Amino acid sequence: MARHLITSAIPYINGIKHLGNLVGSQLPADLYARYLRGRGHEVLFLCATDEHGTPAELAAKKAGKPVAEFCAEMHGVQAEIARGFRLSFDHFGRSSSPQNHTLTQHFAGRLADQGLIREVSESQVYSNADGRFLPDRYIEGTCPNCGYESARGDQCENCTKQLDPTDLIEPRSAISGSTDLEVRETKHLYLMQSGMRGQLNAWIDEKDDWPILTTSIARKWLNDGDGLKDRGITRDLDWGIPVRRGDAPWPGMEGKVFYVWFDAPIEYIACAGEWAEANGLDDAAWERWWRTDKGADDVRYTQFMGKDNVPFHTLSFPATILGSGEPWKLVDYIKSFNYLNYDGGQFSTSKGRGVFMDQALDILPPDYWRWWLLSHAPESSDSEFTWENFQTSVNKDLADVLGNFVSRVTKFCRSKFGEAVPDAGEFGPDEQALIENITTRVRAYEHHMEAMEVRKSAAELRGIWVAGNEYLQSVAPWTTFKTDPDKAAAQIRLALNLVRLYAVLSAPFVPDAAADMLAAMQTEDDSWPDDVPAALNMLKPGHAFTVPEVAFAKITDEQREDWQARFSGVRE
Ligand code: MF3
Ligand code: ZN
Repeated sequence: MARHLITSAIPYINGIKHLGNLVGSQLPADLYARYLRGRGHEVLFLCATDEHGTPAELAAKKAGKPVAEFCAEMHGVQAEIARGFRLSFDHFGRSSSPQNHTLTQHFAGRLADQGLIREVSESQVYSNADGRFLPDRYIEGTCPNCGYESARGDQCENCTKQLDPTDLIEPRSAISGSTDLEVRETKHLYLMQSGMRGQLNAWIDEKDDWPILTTSIARKWLNDGDGLKDRGITRDLDWGIPVRRGDAPWPGMEGKVFYVWFDAPIEYIACAGEWAEANGLDDAAWERWWRTDKGADDVRYTQFMGKDNVPFHTLSFPATILGSGEPWKLVDYIKSFNYLNYDGGQFSTSKGRGVFMDQALDILPPDYWRWWLLSHAPESSDSEFTWENFQTSVNKDLADVLGNFVSRVTKFCRSKFGEAVPDAGEFGPDEQALIENITTRVRAYEHHMEAMEVRKSAAELRGIWVAGNEYLQSVAPWTTFKTDPDKAAAQIRLALNLVRLYAVLSAPFVPDAAADMLAAMQTEDDSWPDDVPAALNMLKPGHAFTVPEVAFAKITDEQREDWQARFSGVRE
């Protein structure tokens, strides 16, 4: 048994995420957390809302609410949607928590003590039309690196380069579109991460088992001339964590707050503190996950995120951790994802294009979405959601294969032997062959799950379902029954045990269906099949079961067309 700390990139507070965001971080993180718990490991799975920065301020303004109130409300909304998707966070925290205030100020103080912070008199973009300083991401323009025309002042989403607003060609205000911008002087704190290039390079070099997507993005910016230049970690904003040096005031920084990208990853740590507090535990309880001097040495820490988040997790956050000179846990593995596109274009939060998490749950239960998204996760390249593909996958995999197996087996047994595992007959060569096949496949499934190969895991799981269907099709107990009822009884006994096994194996992907299947088999034993033959002999003759309600209804052509039309337009 090992200890696993798992975090998903924390979603911004200012709106509901689309399915592309979900499949790029929270959902695969949940898959992995559920799998590891199922294997008996100790897991701490954390996520939170990312509440600071201008987007939050502006969204609150638009909603006509004080920003603190808006964030509290939206946190509730996101938490509810996360429950709707069965995301099994041990805690869903808030980057605006008191814990994060304290820790962020602590890190800034430590970095200053280590000589890694300098004060810089900065020219900052002021928008006359908007009457305010414009934070980086509210300045748009052309990317100097790739020529993308809607690059933001903090990052180009096309080539992932981290930018400064003054790098942009033909800058404009993203709030008003105004180009009436001027540059004013103001003092800010800079994190001197440029001096850490060697240390970070050496650290990334050790990670020879990381996904290429992760290391290639990290290396690109490590080796790029200014990918690791010193970065401003403060902003002229009202909403955020006040700039303090530990628990002392920071002279000259009055009225400023830390940059959202400085405090957000620190929330991964603070969130563990929030989790401890929410569960009535002491500091030692969370420190054993995060402090290598307090027990976190044997923790394996895995982060999940979309590719645009990789530079912040491979460079900026490690710079904060390493620079502190304190024994905080560094990430052991970063699983990153490409983008999911929507029906011939991009999902877009700003344009409201695609299916958003709340809308998805309004039309179908979470398992449908979980299965499609995970089995089509954008791992080696971008992938695309189309309604046709969604309909086909769900109908085939969930309804025709998994759902059909469960319903055929239980209904046949009920009609011929009653609602208990039949006890006559012996397993023969067909049964042995199936058991061997399933054993091999379960080991392959474990291998892919451990490697966080999401698509391969889904494909293997589907293969395990298919193997059961093919067995049933070939031994045809409904035919056997006419000539050799004992043999049919043995076949059905094995098939009923397969239903339980499928529940256990499928739970990380489709937790609701898995729970229904276990309930129908009237067992709470969801122990992992370390020994597959034994697991397929677990429900003994005479064990009562019930026939579950239809697990997966098929998506009809009318539904598909209706949804396709409904979501093609613009949200709001
Ligand atoms: N809020 C960011 C996004 O949605 C992710 C923040 S991840 C963290 O892209 F590292 F800052 F926590
Ligand atoms: Zn670019």
